[in-house]
Amino acid sequence: MSSDSLSPEAAALDPERLPRHVAIIMDGNGRWAKKKLLNRVKGHEKGADAVREAVNTCREIGISYLTLYAFSTENWQRPRMEVDALMALLKKFLHTQAEELRANNIRLHTIGETDRLPDDVRQALEHVLSQTRHNDGLHLILALSYGGRSEIIHAVRGIATEVEAGRLSPNTIDETLLSGKLFTCGIPDPDLLIRTSGELRLSNFLLWQLAYAEFHFTPTLWPDFGKEEFVRILADYQQRERRFGQVDSDQAT
Ligand code: FPP
Repeated sequence: MSSDSLSPEAAALDPERLPRHVAIIMDGNGRWAKKKLLNRVKGHEKGADAVREAVNTCREIGISYLTLYAFSTENWQRPRMEVDALMALLKKFLHTQAEELRANNIRLHTIGETDRLPDDVRQALEHVLSQTRHNDGLHLILALSYGGRSEIIHAVRGIATEVEAGRLSPNTIDETLLSGKLFTCGIPDPDLLIRTSGELRLSNFLLWQLAYAEFHFTPTLWPDFGKEEFVRILADYQQRERRFGQVDSDQAT
């Protein structure tokens, strides 16, 4: 963690107890816009600014992986105008951030059914994925056209096909094997999940991967989510005791 540009609160975080992977459900863009009597798309635009700030915060503090739920499989059912606006925003983000990601040693990844994205967005995505593939600083993972249940079904189908072909015995199927068939193959499970806007649910996000994550729900609407609150949540995370289903060491006897 480089402490020169950090606020005192961020510099006070224990670098040994940072979450390695933070996942965020960025919720509340629509309500933010409605409160200000603006079109929902304005909320998403402001949300894109909050994305940039969250990425910078992770980079400055030294978080290794940040996964953002940017578009769910269910989001395709939103009005056409809103879907188009979200796709346009994503494309703009990729164009405007490509150089910044490259310069800041950030590697972009995606999880989800990205083949469902419009051609122009897919091309922009491919370009940035390829441009940043050698970076080894922050891993930024965008969940796009992502759904946790369909991810698991996809993985199970792959495993069933291998069993059917006789390449795999059912007895050898374990957690490591299934994890390796998910979109997140090679990415460690999130340690901390944050959801903004006060909703207390997972909405089909990383259902397998969040098994042992710490959860933090905040009433803040995503466009208002900034560095200060992010740092407070990280400080709160550092106070938690993670037991992964086991008992405290002092209660073990
Ligand atoms: C949820 O708010 C947010 C989304 C469905 C999309 C998230 C998109 C962004 C933050 C901006 C673009 C992203 C990138 C990566 C550039 P909502 O619309 O469900 O809000 P509501 O629940 O208040 O209606």
